[in-house]
Amino acid sequence: MSVLSGKKILLGVSGGIAAYKTATLVRLFIKAGADVQVVMTPASKDFVTPLTLSTLSKNPVHSTFYKEEDENGLWNNHVELGLWADLMLIAPATANTLSKMVNGNCDNLLIATYLSAKCPVYFAPAMDLDMYKHPSTLAGFQTLKQFGNTIIPAESGELASGLSGEGRMAEPENIIAFIEKDLENQLPLKGKNILITAGPTYEAIDPVRFIGNHSTGKMGFDIAESAAKSGANVILVSGPTALEVKNSNIKLVRVTSASQMFEACHQFYKEVDVAICAAAVADYKPKYTANQKIKKSDNSFTIELEKTKDILASLGEIKQNQFLIGFALETENEIENAKLKIQKKNLDLIVLNSLQDQGAGFATATNKVTIIDSQFVVEPMPLKSKEAVADDIINKVILHYEKNS
Ligand code: CTP
Repeated sequence: MSVLSGKKILLGVSGGIAAYKTATLVRLFIKAGADVQVVMTPASKDFVTPLTLSTLSKNPVHSTFYKEEDENGLWNNHVELGLWADLMLIAPATANTLSKMVNGNCDNLLIATYLSAKCPVYFAPAMDLDMYKHPSTLAGFQTLKQFGNTIIPAESGELASGLSGEGRMAEPENIIAFIEKDLENQLPLKGKNILITAGPTYEAIDPVRFIGNHSTGKMGFDIAESAAKSGANVILVSGPTALEVKNSNIKLVRVTSASQMFEACHQFYKEVDVAICAAAVADYKPKYTANQKIKKSDNSFTIELEKTKDILASLGEIKQNQFLIGFALETENEIENAKLKIQKKNLDLIVLNSLQDQGAGFATATNKVTIIDSQFVVEPMPLKSKEAVADDIINKVILHYEKNS
């Protein structure tokens, strides 16, 4: 999934021949899952039509201070547009528009919106090679960089003038790749490795039967998606589940039993910064697994069980700098028991599930949790979707690194 997914993009188009490429640019933003609005300078409409860009962006295009179709001359609110955006891209940015950005020369809606925008601004210059190298242009780039704007450098090639050299607007694919990389580098968990366990474990009784539980793995998978969305490299060790991962930054390791999950976690633990154990690991497994299917005979049947290894506790024992998060499912003395588990398993945070809350627990789309840290600060959360609970947990991880950076 692109880092642009769900982002509100304001595309400012100024009047150069490269404006025709903005049709592709809008398409690529939409394909990446972004929401796009377009502001055009009057001159740019000679190179690409507002109808093209409104059709592709699925939004009306803005180009004048008044809504032209409105007889009462309703004001086009550039402040609102500027504040709406998560990111503004000015492409192509002609020499004229760049100089207006530098000087705040606000004689069109694009510049008024630019001056109102509080979000990060990128600009992709497009001009002839001598214009691109002119000291005035270069000084403008410097000033805009000082304003905090980011230049997407022009590329070399054939120019509309017939000359060949630097000045051609970066290709739409390259503009998108540039912005994606830049945004990815700014993600709060960029460079962090996170191990997550999810799902149930199956403990074999014989070749066809097992002891398992109702966990679907959804909570752990949602945590993995949230961590990956925040820039982390995720190793997701999951017991049997029908779920699939969406983000390519998640490496999914499928296991079946508690002992396989234990092995997989210890294989990766030393390399990770964070470990989150959301799996519903079986506490007991059959002491012996029959090689053949057990035939029914007597009226009653006993399986001798032995304890599985506690993965979370074992990670707590060998913890170095890892930030370790566990889950607790309690039915009585919830807070006290969860606090005891923080100490016993050497955790930094525990996420307490209460089965007494409606909409919480296994096989639901929602969860109601209380987050308790190692200082025993207790934070009860309202009933939320599991995705939102996952974001809350990952925000705690982000906060931990912000505090310790
Ligand atoms: N856990 C684990 N390995 C096990 C058992 C549990 O890693 N063999 C982890 C779970 O992933 C979860 C936490 O421990 O993070 C769950 O603890 P809980 O369900 O409360 O069970 P226990 O700690 O085993 O305690 P009890 O069942 O006695 O309440």
